[in-house]
Amino acid sequence: MQILTTPRAMQDAALTLRAAGRRIGVVPTMGFLHEGHASLIRLARARADVVIVTLFVNPAQFGPNEDLSRYPRDFERDRALCEAEGADILFAPGADSVYAADASVWIDEDRLSRGLCGASRPGHFRGVCTVVAKLFNLTQPHVAVFGEKDAQQLRILRRMVRDLDIPVEVVAGPTVRETDGLAMSSRNAYLSPEERLQATCLRRALDAAASRLAAGERSAAALRAAMAEVIAGAPLARADYIEIVDDETLEPVTLIGRPALAAMAVFVGRTRLIDNAVLRP
Ligand code: PAF
Repeated sequence: MQILTTPRAMQDAALTLRAAGRRIGVVPTMGFLHEGHASLIRLARARADVVIVTLFVNPAQFGPNEDLSRYPRDFERDRALCEAEGADILFAPGADSVYAADASVWIDEDRLSRGLCGASRPGHFRGVCTVVAKLFNLTQPHVAVFGEKDAQQLRILRRMVRDLDIPVEVVAGPTVRETDGLAMSSRNAYLSPEERLQATCLRRALDAAASRLAAGERSAAALRAAMAEVIAGAPLARADYIEIVDDETLEPVTLIGRPALAAMAVFVGRTRLIDNAVLRP
């Protein structure tokens, strides 16, 4: 596996691979990789000749009071995981090499990013869209793989690709969970043992909504209440938002008549976790 650390080296390598007719798959990550990322690398592996994993903790998607400086990092472990999963190139650019000091062009998606995490993290998706567009330009992928755990991010990036005519196929990988249901996330590393136990409330809340729906409940307010009740039962948890939105438009719904997305962000202690499930009537 090749390790590249400058945008220039990455783009040169990608253009050379393209010219040689190779099909490129990219898995953008912020590192501290886990089995969820490994599953995305395997999806890329099955769809491309050359798999590039990018590892960059993108400052532009963190707000001023967020966890950029303490975001978990372990380059050696990430390198070993990428190698074990058969990645061909690990692109890990230095913090200062990706954005020009006076960078002034950004990508703003302004519909799907209004609610959910976009409402609680202003500017977050502008940072995500901009860095992903830059990573696409640097890695020249035919296919890019993102996790369904970041449901809003996935829908926004698909919209970016559609609206800007970016010739990249976006593939979604299912959320990978711990045996007790907690969605794998690099941020789980922040949880104390007691917080870790209570963090299962996110998945239990989604399950509660799904079983009320299966029992015939169609009211989004009732399903949200069922979710909120589960979160309230975990003393270390505090909901940032609990929403049921249309799966396509991400607008709030009142009745589940077509596929909806149950999405939540919950602080467990100081750690903000997200999870979601598609609800099908
Ligand atoms: O999902 C992530 O880890 C990040 O948001 C991404 C897509 C790598 C952009 O920094």
